Amino acid sequence: MNRHYLKARLDKEFNLRLKSKLGKRLNRRLTSGETPKRFGLVGYPLGHTLSPYIHKQIMYSSGINGVYRSYEVKPDDFIDTAGRLIADLDGFNITIPYKQEIIPQLESLSGDAAKFGAVNTVSSNKGYNTDITGFRACGVPLKDKRVMLLGAGGAARVLLCEALEQGAAAVGVYARNPVQAQALVGRFSALFQETEMFCELIAGNAAAVNDQGGASDGPSPSHRTSPLPYDVILNATPVGMWPHCEGIPLSRAIIAEAEYVFDTIYNPLATRLVLAARSMNVKAQSGLGMLLHQAVAAQKIWNPCSDMSGFSFLTLEQMLRRRLLKKYPVKIVLTGFMGSGKTTVGRSLSKSLGIGFADIDLMIVEENAKPIPTIFREDGEAFFRRSEQHCIQKAMDMPKSMVIATGGGAVINPENVGIIRNNRGFIVFLHTDTKTIFERIGDDGGRPLLNGKSRQNIADLYEQRLPQYYAAADFTLEADGEVTDIVCRIRAAFGF
Ligand code: S3P
Repeated sequence: MNRHYLKARLDKEFNLRLKSKLGKRLNRRLTSGETPKRFGLVGYPLGHTLSPYIHKQIMYSSGINGVYRSYEVKPDDFIDTAGRLIADLDGFNITIPYKQEIIPQLESLSGDAAKFGAVNTVSSNKGYNTDITGFRACGVPLKDKRVMLLGAGGAARVLLCEALEQGAAAVGVYARNPVQAQALVGRFSALFQETEMFCELIAGNAAAVNDQGGASDGPSPSHRTSPLPYDVILNATPVGMWPHCEGIPLSRAIIAEAEYVFDTIYNPLATRLVLAARSMNVKAQSGLGMLLHQAVAAQKIWNPCSDMSGFSFLTLEQMLRRRLLKKYPVKIVLTGFMGSGKTTVGRSLSKSLGIGFADIDLMIVEENAKPIPTIFREDGEAFFRRSEQHCIQKAMDMPKSMVIATGGGAVINPENVGIIRNNRGFIVFLHTDTKTIFERIGDDGGRPLLNGKSRQNIADLYEQRLPQYYAAADFTLEADGEVTDIVCRIRAAFGF
């Protein structure tokens, strides 16, 4: 293709784009000569924020001439820098640890910001709170519900106020720092007397993962102080946030009692808390919707006259999902008994998500340059298990998001569960009934553990392993049906 042809084609494409609604807006912007408005995010630290990306997309699709960047401000510099940013920028978002600290620096507050004592958006020297707009847009059921609120920081405050305003029947606040939880309860219980409010005193360090990688499941329900179970769980703590995806703030038993879980975390898209809920058919929502809605609300405050009809919430949500998977690698690790479909489902899942796939059994074969039955025969099962662990580690160390199919015995060793869990791996248990397993494995000579075994022996081995599969799994699903359906259900659980 020669240069002239290429230029002519690019010009044509450009002109076509300029004829579109968005193009016209962009053209106006490009030819107006106006200096772009300056927006940003202030906080410390700001390591993994998605806000610059989100705001750029919203501004681009709405024809807003603006830039949005991160301002990481150390606590010692905050007072000086805040004044300068208020004067210099056209508007900014503010996040931890400054949502309260910014208030004395501002001339006025919106009704919501004053009520919560927390600001996340600043415009013309006035503080707003669009976190609440974002949370309200998520439609979490709160009226007449018994709500357990995890956390007592800025985000918890917003969720608490909304629960109180919506008329929750009771709110138990659980924070690792009980003094902070008490302060939050103290501040709001006088204002909302119809709602019973108390500190939930779950014992133990719920976020901890034990040596065996997450077998520690957080505190058990017998530890909750509330005599009645909770209907709704709201997580406003960072437990489970990437890169510490192994964290889970509650035991599965408490989660199972609820009917709805909302997690403010959006990275990963589904935390272990969200997966545990979905695994037990408890409705669960991640923080992605709240994040997007608060960003749109902030842009509306900064650019009240802009026409935002060109902006598609769903498109941006989809773009963010892809971006999260690319920039913040996680591993979806499939487990289950021989014949449960780990490899078939794994390949199909990786293809539909557009990410890589690794099969641990194949890696073992490659590593040892011989088939699995030969390894068992010549080197013994203990050798095979060492090689298996080594390959699991190798797969987990790969720097991209991937789907990984393990052999049926992999998660029976808690050390392997630890390796998976502590490397941003989420375990999916493909549960099948023994009938399906017999149908699928047939007389497969490639599985040394089955050689010379009766159906009863095999069923016994499965029975014996079942509790370990369940204990290791972040998400369990019935996998007897169609591959496409299983893939859809796993995608939905992970928020895709
Ligand atoms: C094994 C399962 C096999 C393979 C090896 C041991 C097991 O993988 O890793 O034969 O202990 O269950 P599949 O589950 O893919 O058959």
